[in-house]
Amino acid sequence: MKPIDNKTVLITGASKGIGLAIAKVFAAHGHNLILVARGQARLEQAARDIQKSSDSDVLTFSMDLAGENAVEELFEKVKQTGLSVDILVNNAGVGMTGYFAMGDYSTMTNMLRLNMIVLTQLTHLFLQPMLQRKHGRILNVGSLVAHFSGAPNWSAYVASKHYVRAFSRGLSRELKGTGVTATVVSPGATATDFVTTADATNMRAYQTRGGTSVEKIAEAAYSACQAGKVSIIPGMFNKLLAFLGELHPRAIAFEVFAFLSQKKD
Ligand SMILES: NC(=O)c1ccc[n+]([C@@H]2O[C@H](COP(=O)([O-])OP(=O)(O)OC[C@H]3O[C@@H](n4cnc5c(N)ncnc54)[C@H](OP(=O)(O)O)[C@@H]3O)[C@@H](O)[C@H]2O)c1
Repeated sequence: MKPIDNKTVLITGASKGIGLAIAKVFAAHGHNLILVARGQARLEQAARDIQKSSDSDVLTFSMDLAGENAVEELFEKVKQTGLSVDILVNNAGVGMTGYFAMGDYSTMTNMLRLNMIVLTQLTHLFLQPMLQRKHGRILNVGSLVAHFSGAPNWSAYVASKHYVRAFSRGLSRELKGTGVTATVVSPGATATDFVTTADATNMRAYQTRGGTSVEKIAEAAYSACQAGKVSIIPGMFNKLLAFLGELHPRAIAFEVFAFLSQKKD
């Protein structure tokens, strides 16, 4: 598939972590950027840093995407700039760990909204003009956990990432022959602020050494997206874990992931 060069990329959750790393890779390849996140100061700092090290034009929209009508608002704001979004990167997402019964329900619904509804709605809105132009890319940030048949201690988060994977794979097939592609990238445990926000610091999965860097994840995601691949799992160890997760009988893999999902005191 021919890559989409020098085009406009909208990236959600681009102020730090994986989203910022993806933004830097797109900028390094000559794309212009529209960056979205809640915290304005960090977002503007990210834009300044990218502008210093590239020739890209960078626009920022500071907003809470999980808020009511936020996605429609963002779509309108982008429309008013006169820019067309050629590549949409649905990266913004949060995690939540701990037993489901003890979790705060409004925090949970906020997470489910951001991880699934916001991603779906953004895709639906920005896909229509891409289809009319007969070119475009959708890159969804899922997770390695979508290759596990569920995992205790973060049941709802894991289920939300199963949604991202299944949705992206189905969409990818629907888009065949349209000039638009959909890709899902599935990072494994990665050292970002996600870990503290999700209260996962003492989870086994986050205590193993190594892991794939945000830069490597971003490079792999960029290449897969440009090539129009259906999915990519960055890192050999993560590929192995995903393979294990798909093996039958799944009950064995489930116990492995249940172990990795345990929290240490
Ligand atoms: N880190 C991991 O281990 C890991 C593994 C697999 C998959 N992932 C996935 O990777 C994606 C990025 O996570 P990360 O690890 O890079 O986390 P991160 O460093 O915490 O970054 C999250 C980004 O999303 C933004 N964000 C959060 N809530 C938002 C909201 N309501 N509206 C708009 N922006 C919002 C954050 O900025 P503000 O807080 O300023 O809004 C930030 O820019 C997520 O989808 C996550 O599920 C992470």
